[in-house]
Amino acid sequence: MGLSSMRVRTQNGPSDLRAIWWEDDVVKAIDQRLLPERLEIVAIKTYEEMAEAISDMTVRGAPSIGAAGAYGMALAWQSGVDLVGASRVLKATRPTAHDLFHAIDRMLSIGDGLVEAAKGYADSIAEKCRLIGEAGNSLIEDGMKILTHCNAGALATVDFGTALAPIRVAHRSGKKIFVFVDETRPRFQGAKLTAWEMVNEGINHAVIADNAAGYYLRSEVDLVIVGADRVAMNGDFANKIGTYEKAVLARENGVPFYVAAPVSTFDPSLRSGDGIVIEQRSPDEVLIVNGVRIAPAESAALNPAFDVTPAKYVSGFITETGVLAPDELAKMLAE
Ligand code: MRU
Repeated sequence: MGLSSMRVRTQNGPSDLRAIWWEDDVVKAIDQRLLPERLEIVAIKTYEEMAEAISDMTVRGAPSIGAAGAYGMALAWQSGVDLVGASRVLKATRPTAHDLFHAIDRMLSIGDGLVEAAKGYADSIAEKCRLIGEAGNSLIEDGMKILTHCNAGALATVDFGTALAPIRVAHRSGKKIFVFVDETRPRFQGAKLTAWEMVNEGINHAVIADNAAGYYLRSEVDLVIVGADRVAMNGDFANKIGTYEKAVLARENGVPFYVAAPVSTFDPSLRSGDGIVIEQRSPDEVLIVNGVRIAPAESAALNPAFDVTPAKYVSGFITETGVLAPDELAKMLAE
């Protein structure tokens, strides 16, 4: 499985895990739907099961679903299934994260030996996230209070994280930091997953209601770091719904706002964020909380999973190649 950095407490004591990996001819993944109550590992044996695991968010987060797409192609290759057909099924799962399409196209272009190729892809994502952690750590000073949205941690990215990687590195290097964790309605990836990673890593944090972010941005937050699901060439980017309003509030209050993402999240075919397809998810995610309907039976709900933040609100992108201003992206990708 390779080196991993996500420290978790299992029944057998502390262990280092990745979000997803290959083991004994199948793919193993943390079932992210069950955290933080239960840590369960699922075995995914076919590409159809992988498509289901991506759709139902057993595996989630842009770089992790990229790895899932690569591993899904490896499962298809291993059982002699038509790769183009499998790629269509895997690509039809979730529309917004660029990593999924990038990874599947990579596997299609390789065409053979896909188990080793997919393992290599996942390892390379983990290494890129480690480098993002090193680069982003330079932005974090001792004593800083940092706000993050959704979960761009190891769970979302195979290992280390994107937004959470610099936070992890800063903490491990002895900096005293505090993290405001947006709960991230409607699926609570912040409250459930980011907080779980913070607890495992021993990082000081508090979960805040999404509506409280403005209150803290106005008073206490020194730095915002978020992840991304797709970045256009002009620096507009899609991330979990609610990111846009955090970016505007950060600008209004003079708080630096950084986006951490590997190059696999950047879409060279998009000139601006206008072309990003936003996934619309089930109204039930908004209307039903812990099995209880919270709105009148007659009420409908709208549930866009992502929003697009214009590049003008971004202080910089933290990538595996370093920290870049939005207007440096196109040049970096051309290289
Ligand atoms: O819908 P999800 O949970 O798969 O959303 C993706 C995300 O986790 C976030 O938008 C994240 O900030 C970017 S992925 C590292």
